[in-house]
Amino acid sequence: MFDIDVNGTVYTVEEDLDLLDWLRQKLRLTSVKNGCGEGVCGACTVLVDGWVRRACQLSTAKVAGRKLVTVEGLPERQKEIFARAFAKAGAVQCGFCTPGMVICAKALLDWNPDPTAQEIREAIRHNICRCTGYVKIEQAIALAARVLRGEDGLVDFTKTRAITL
Ligand code: FES
Ligand code: FES
Repeated sequence: MFDIDVNGTVYTVEEDLDLLDWLRQKLRLTSVKNGCGEGVCGACTVLVDGWVRRACQLSTAKVAGRKLVTVEGLPERQKEIFARAFAKAGAVQCGFCTPGMVICAKALLDWNPDPTAQEIREAIRHNICRCTGYVKIEQAIALAARVLRGEDGLVDFTKTRAITL
């Protein structure tokens, strides 16, 4: 039996379960997507103690005692800024990859609030998007970074359309 903190709530788990299934089916954290189940696409990316990890490659036993964060657990302001920035930049088409991209972006910006374009590119380099060609996602992350730093009013909350990640 072991404890896992997910988005600030501690859960006691008795079995060693597939982490992705447990997050999606038991906790209903459906932002965590199953794109490949093989550690290739990045759609299942979560933070484990602040590090980017692939939930499909982990089990509940492997994250015993750890703190996990999914998009659902981001602070409301960050959620809003990422959602608006991705919408504004046109970085969401089907949206399947978006939560994984946002988790990678959060990990980057927590460590480096003012990243270069190259650093943004590297932060999402292992995540696959079939729709956007990546440039708009990189622009969205740069925009979110500027807004989080308080340097940019480009995200006009009255004019951009809210999206749900
Ligand atoms: S579902 Fe985990 S990397 Fe694709
Ligand atoms: S927006 Fe469709 S996979 Fe990225």
